[in-house]
Amino acid sequence: MDLDFCYELFKKSNTSDENLKKLIETSCYDEELFKLADLKRKEIYGTDVFLRGLIEITNFCKNNCFYCGIRQQNDKIKRYRLTEKEILDCCLRAAKLGIKTFVLQGGEDDFFDDDRLSSLIIKIKKNFKDFAITLSLGEKTKESYEKLFKAGAERYLLRHETADEKHYESLHPKKMSLANRKNCLFNLKNLGFKVGSGFLVGSPFQKTEHLIKDLRFLQLLKPEMIGIGPFICHKETPFKDKKNGSINLTLKLIAILRLMFPKALIPATTALLSIKKNTLQKALKAGANVIMPNMSLKKYQNLYKLYDTKKERKEKTIKKLKKNIYLAGYRFKVSRGDPKI
Ligand code: 5AD
Repeated sequence: MDLDFCYELFKKSNTSDENLKKLIETSCYDEELFKLADLKRKEIYGTDVFLRGLIEITNFCKNNCFYCGIRQQNDKIKRYRLTEKEILDCCLRAAKLGIKTFVLQGGEDDFFDDDRLSSLIIKIKKNFKDFAITLSLGEKTKESYEKLFKAGAERYLLRHETADEKHYESLHPKKMSLANRKNCLFNLKNLGFKVGSGFLVGSPFQKTEHLIKDLRFLQLLKPEMIGIGPFICHKETPFKDKKNGSINLTLKLIAILRLMFPKALIPATTALLSIKKNTLQKALKAGANVIMPNMSLKKYQNLYKLYDTKKERKEKTIKKLKKNIYLAGYRFKVSRGDPKI
């Protein structure tokens, strides 16, 4: 078997579209790929794994992405918003567990306007010095992003979902566009945010060519964080009959990402961990070095269902999580986990 291009990817962080296609579509290179990805992550980040406290602040959303369970047109879910006090309590809970980054995530909810978010960010920063705030609140204008950055948010997660125009249109309603998504991402970068992007694996109509485009787009964007996860079907969406994405392909793409973007922070995402047991170890061995346990209040955790089998990582399992990281051969690092870029 010709493993040359695995080593090419390892040494040069790049290879041709043709080779990427082979890596994605056949399994004969998998073993080598995972081994090299783990070597690369150890070279850059050692065995450190960073935890981010995920706080799902609202499940209201004005969008209608075809794959997502909290889309506006889903009238079967109870909508909620956390109060400022509830959010600060979540931060405190995360801080007590040794977590140094808070990720405020939510649907696109106009209730959380720039002023409300800015004052929230300022309060968190005042109460939790030396902690990083990551936002994951969707598409906004450059002006809005700027206000949030000035208030003290430093990182922003916004997946491009798919870098192919036509494919993007088949996953989203007409009023959303890939061009706008890309524009938001470059605005965030230019403002100084550390940016996280990424894509769905195995979303309906996805082809290998789309995945290659995803990788090429990421090379252009140069994000500090890259999050990918398998598409998981949700019964209250237009994609209720579609097949779930593959875990193995997701793991393989994590390994490819680690080799193409050695310094990126790559999470073992909730979607990846929630459809099959014991995936955490595999994700870490494939090159993932971030985990985002859910810090939201119990009573809201079940309402933030982007997909059907979303399993929540409860507080008491954090201890288990830390143990599992250790058993996989890595260690939980109490650190903001800034990118080495
Ligand atoms: N399956 C998997 N991931 C999903 N997301 C949204 N809906 C689903 C789904 N059905 C992902 C999107 C989004 C992130 C917050 O969650 O990629 O960017």
